[in-house]
Amino acid sequence: MTSLAQKLSGIVGKAFEEQGLPAELGAVRVSDRPDLCQFQCNGAMAAAKVAKKNPREIAEGLVDVLANDETFEKVEIAGPGFINLDVTDAFLAAHLESVKADERAGVADTGKDQTVILDYGGPNIAKPMHVGHLRASIIGDSLRRIMKFAGYNTIGDVHMGDWGTPMGMILSELDIRGHEGPVTMEELAEIYPKAAADCKADETRMEQARAATKKLQDGDPEYTKRWRQFIDISIEGMKANFDALGVHFDEWKGEADAHPFIAPMVEALKDKGIAVLDDGALVIDVTQEDDKKEFPPLILLKSDGAVMYSTTDMGTIVDRVESHDPDKIIYVVDQRQSLHFEQLFRAARKGALVKDDVELTFAGFGTMNGTDGKPFKTRAGGVMRLEDLIAMGVEKAEARLNEAELATDIDEAERADIAKKVALAAIKFADLQNQRQSDYVFDLDRMTSFEGKTGPYLLYQAVRIQSLLKKAEAQGLSAGSEFVLQDADKPLALLLAELPDHFENTLKNYTPHVLCDYAYKLAQAFSSFYGNCHILSEEDEAVRASRLALCAQTHCQLVMVLKVLGIEVPASM
Ligand code: ARG
Repeated sequence: MTSLAQKLSGIVGKAFEEQGLPAELGAVRVSDRPDLCQFQCNGAMAAAKVAKKNPREIAEGLVDVLANDETFEKVEIAGPGFINLDVTDAFLAAHLESVKADERAGVADTGKDQTVILDYGGPNIAKPMHVGHLRASIIGDSLRRIMKFAGYNTIGDVHMGDWGTPMGMILSELDIRGHEGPVTMEELAEIYPKAAADCKADETRMEQARAATKKLQDGDPEYTKRWRQFIDISIEGMKANFDALGVHFDEWKGEADAHPFIAPMVEALKDKGIAVLDDGALVIDVTQEDDKKEFPPLILLKSDGAVMYSTTDMGTIVDRVESHDPDKIIYVVDQRQSLHFEQLFRAARKGALVKDDVELTFAGFGTMNGTDGKPFKTRAGGVMRLEDLIAMGVEKAEARLNEAELATDIDEAERADIAKKVALAAIKFADLQNQRQSDYVFDLDRMTSFEGKTGPYLLYQAVRIQSLLKKAEAQGLSAGSEFVLQDADKPLALLLAELPDHFENTLKNYTPHVLCDYAYKLAQAFSSFYGNCHILSEEDEAVRASRLALCAQTHCQLVMVLKVLGIEVPASM
């Protein structure tokens, strides 16, 4: 199954071929002037160049062929040679019937038999999770769900920061304090910032931390034991946060898991002459002839032999290739790390850590700012903990439910569950609806509103459709299996047929915001449809059944899209 536009591209492409023109030029897309036509094909212009003819003449030849096709209600030439198209109601209805019968609503499983590893979340051990990890988690988890829906075998890896100098800072701090036995999360929350501040202020203290890091990385049993203990409690805290967010990981690996792969990898890269000594450090030159900016070498080992962020990332690639043989590895990380990833990908390719056809993608994201335009902070100017942020969201969602007089006659537990779903929908949708790379303003007030382009608005629309369908059922009315489309039904019907296009676009560019736009448009189209058409009160039985089927299909697709975005719709509101 495909989208309607893709189907039409096939038909128009054939017409191009019949005229001795390349079929690809027959690509049809949804019209950006729905007042003039439903679809358009702009290929006559490019075809004119190929055939060295006037575009209008080419378009006329095509129109002659297409006008005889039963698919089209209207085939017209506009301007210099644009072809405007409307499909017949029967064609649209038949297409929608096939969409309705397909549990994937026409979305193709293009990822079948392919494995993708998604690296997102990236929290650091010992530091409390903060809003900086929110975007990585929300966008990464959504991309995982989207790719899974597209048929990929997906592996989400949290890739914790658990192996760098902060580990040595903590271990040396425990030594200084003579701390014996396990540490608690609260102790850790105090120990780490203190140690980090001391190290920053005092080079000898920093040396201690570095030495401790090296000792840990070299496998000291006592340090390993202590490290394991505080890693485990940190993970517990992280899990609670990620559970609260509804963000899932298949693997709980970290930088440390790359350790066993590093020494053999370094040896091999040295043997190949790819890793070379430079001022005592072992580096890989990653420059390319056509570079327009400077590319510093990737540092594999520091002069003291300690491993770096880039080293563990290189080792992690080796681990991932050996354990999963992935077709793609996607990194959902702060945009500010783009240079690191460019260096990493170049070095990995140069060292042949991955086969040439393995895709390595950096899906970077922008900064989350506060309403003052500066990186988001608490009111007191500190780092906002993730759990506090979620709690704030839930509180606001409850207030919003009160304001809108929603979810009133239900018990407290149910209401709390709805408030949580509304809060998460607000936070996730506000994040995902932005172009991934751009910064965005975290504005709790705006994002929790039941009006406008927000998560709560979409939940509200989905719940409203659901209750309409329930009401119909209670009246003994059911959705039909055929569509009998009236003019007022068509904008919604056409939009329902677009889902595969938006899905494909999202998959190609790793852009959940495209699906967010679609969900919003769908909710709006439903709203107009609901305002303009009789549904339960429609007297023509076939039209009523068709409209109920449109409602059911809208509900199904809205819930489906929200689900791949990681947003859950409550049963009622
Ligand atoms: N822990 C890192 C940070 O907080 C993010 C890790 C991203 N993933 C990776 N493979 N480097 O910045």
